[in-house]
Amino acid sequence: MVSRKWLANDMMYQIAVVGTGYVGLVAAVCFAEIGHHVTCLDVDGDKINLCKSGIAPFFEPGLQELLARGLEQGRLFFTTDVNQAYRDAAAIFIGVGTPEQPDGSADLSSIAKVARQIAENVKQDCLVIVKSTVPVGTNDKVEQFVRDFKKNGIRIEVASNPEFLAQGSAVHDTLQAARIVIGTSSRWAEDLLTDIYKPFGLPIVSVSRRSAEMIKYAANSFLALKISYMNDIANLCELVDADILDVAKGMSYDDRIGAKHLNAGIGYGGSCFPKDTKALEFLAKQHGYNLRTVKAAIDVNRDQKTILIRKASSRLITFSGLKIAALGLTFKPGTDDFRESAAIDNISFLLHEGAEVFAYDPVGTPNFQKLFPQGRHEAGNITYVTQPRDALKNAHACFIFTEWQQIKEITPQDYRQLMHTPLVFDGRNILSIKEMAKAQVEYYSIGRQRKG
Ligand code: UDX
Repeated sequence: MVSRKWLANDMMYQIAVVGTGYVGLVAAVCFAEIGHHVTCLDVDGDKINLCKSGIAPFFEPGLQELLARGLEQGRLFFTTDVNQAYRDAAAIFIGVGTPEQPDGSADLSSIAKVARQIAENVKQDCLVIVKSTVPVGTNDKVEQFVRDFKKNGIRIEVASNPEFLAQGSAVHDTLQAARIVIGTSSRWAEDLLTDIYKPFGLPIVSVSRRSAEMIKYAANSFLALKISYMNDIANLCELVDADILDVAKGMSYDDRIGAKHLNAGIGYGGSCFPKDTKALEFLAKQHGYNLRTVKAAIDVNRDQKTILIRKASSRLITFSGLKIAALGLTFKPGTDDFRESAAIDNISFLLHEGAEVFAYDPVGTPNFQKLFPQGRHEAGNITYVTQPRDALKNAHACFIFTEWQQIKEITPQDYRQLMHTPLVFDGRNILSIKEMAKAQVEYYSIGRQRKG
């Protein structure tokens, strides 16, 4: 049956992982950590060389250690060579990107490329597992595609195995996942995947391929909806002078609601929620269905991202020539990823309006600089600083985009003393209204009671 390499004991498998991004690399180091023999394949030679030398190509807590340990213990390998990666692999996990296209649909070209490559190069029975987030029905197409291009009589099946890791806690979310979702109707595939995941000791939910694909979109869209709902309620709280922090606290005690993802702010960003909500809405549209709830989440989020600019615009005559402190560039703390971060929209607007932006982020600056290199942009200018206090010095206004610990540690007195005009727009509700008032800092946040 399946080609199986016996390693430390009979539970250990020879695994290939295609794509060394968040999904692929994190899965790979975790598989190696629990004892499997893992070869990672990527077309990006620089990334592969970096991994080979034990350096994680992106910041993720715990990743570096696991990468080093996997290499040291001879269970983790990196290559750009297809044959080396697929040789003897009992299971090939696909973790390549499925970026958003202009119409909101997912771009599946990388998945198709890998599927064809597998069909044309694999020489033993093996299971292909799609970890990337793909629209419902994609796994069926991938299996058909593999069959169309397969040259020999070997058995290749395709199963869905979506991941639910969040950036900043990806390693933890993989090793201690709430559940493993396996999507297949083949007993052979289910047994193999169950076996591969057995050492993790986690609950396994076994469903059809299409249900597994839908679980991922439905889970992410639900969380996005939860955030947009709280942002909508926060905006209403401001109008009726209620406090969203108290409202969220009061709601969180109900197990049916839960305490997580209830924080109102400047909207969700990142590589998943924005992309997956749009892809789900697109899928619904393709089937003639209007997915009103998810559409509403997307609409609320789009408006929420620039809510601070609207607040600031009604307070200031102009941004032109003003020194503006921008604190936090990533879409959330604990990651150097700024994809779809609120900082992009806001900073881009400020630069367009002629502001002198002084930006701080503890880890996200090098990535952000690729989009906005230091210097002039349109009518404005951006300078990156390495200390949050340097951004605040003589600033006429401050915007908080990400709730990094280093930013939370800035005191109301710091704002008062360092800024030219102590005027703070907080998109993450990290400061106390009372303390800010006491320090005589003019403070605007999201959905909070004016008195604090
Ligand atoms: C998310 C899901 O959590 C994860 O399960 C899935 O696999 C991928 O997408 P991630 O994008 O890494 O993970 O981050 P998450 O912590 O969920 O935050 C996403 C965005 O929502 C961030 O911009 C964050 O600031 C925002 N957010 C989160 C809120 O605005 N309020 C909250 O209460 C929680």
